[in-house]
Amino acid sequence: MTLVDVSGLDVHYGDLQVLWDISLEVREEDSVVSIVGPNGAGKTTLLKTLSGILTPTNGSVEVLGQDVSRVPSDEIVERGFVQVSEERNLFGDLSVEANLRMGSFTKRENFAENRDMVFEMFPVLEDRRDKNARTLSGGEQQMLAIGRGLMAEPEVLAFDEPSNALAPQLAEQVFETIEEISDDVTVILVEQHVDRALQLADRGYLLENGRIETEGSGAELLESDAIKEGYLRG
Ligand SMILES: Nc1ncnc2c1ncn2[C@@H]1O[C@H](COP(=O)(O)OP(=O)(O)OP(=O)(O)O)[C@@H](O)[C@H]1O
Ligand SMILES: [Mg+2]
Repeated sequence: MTLVDVSGLDVHYGDLQVLWDISLEVREEDSVVSIVGPNGAGKTTLLKTLSGILTPTNGSVEVLGQDVSRVPSDEIVERGFVQVSEERNLFGDLSVEANLRMGSFTKRENFAENRDMVFEMFPVLEDRRDKNARTLSGGEQQMLAIGRGLMAEPEVLAFDEPSNALAPQLAEQVFETIEEISDDVTVILVEQHVDRALQLADRGYLLENGRIETEGSGAELLESDAIKEGYLRG
């Protein structure tokens, strides 16, 4: 089954077009699909369109078999598409546990069970469960953002630059966590760490200037001239 099916997508901010004729596919059998590309390529814009925050001017977006291009974002979450945004969007004055509760609005009946699963994955969050989110370190906040995403029991979990602003060792931990999550949930991974994102990916897309320049398996992209010349060093 195709979990996400995007075809001929154009997206504008006012008069400014930033995505051009984007087509991509995320299948149920994919563990990780990575979308890589430089600053300003349109990666966040694409994820925001998939999660219903932005409305496309042309083209179609199907999530879990249904057209969502005119569906509000909380309904898209309910259908199983959840995004961990770049800004993490935590509620800083609420506790760790309360933030997890916010993530479970579509699956309230499973709150305790899912919270315990998140605490098992990130024991440090259990230690801090009563602390306000804003008192957490950057790495812990990223764990909380991921945990909150999992509380909705997604079929597809999309990450927007999850390693952003983290020290290399923490970034590596985040990639390992994403790999673990991808055993159960299909992951869309937007990253500027191109090598790491493509190593994890079954399939990948290179987005440049609002257009898909290259696509293929993670291994094919790592060997492609476009990626080697533009994005990999050494
Ligand atoms: N709210 C907005 N209004 C107008 N233009 C915007 C807005 N948000 C983004 N843009 C523009 O759209 C283009 C794509 O931006 P986007 O944030 O999607 O890129 P990105 O690939 O996520 O970049 P980054 O790697 O820096 O996160 C850029 O030229 C950006 O300046
Ligand atoms: Mg971005």
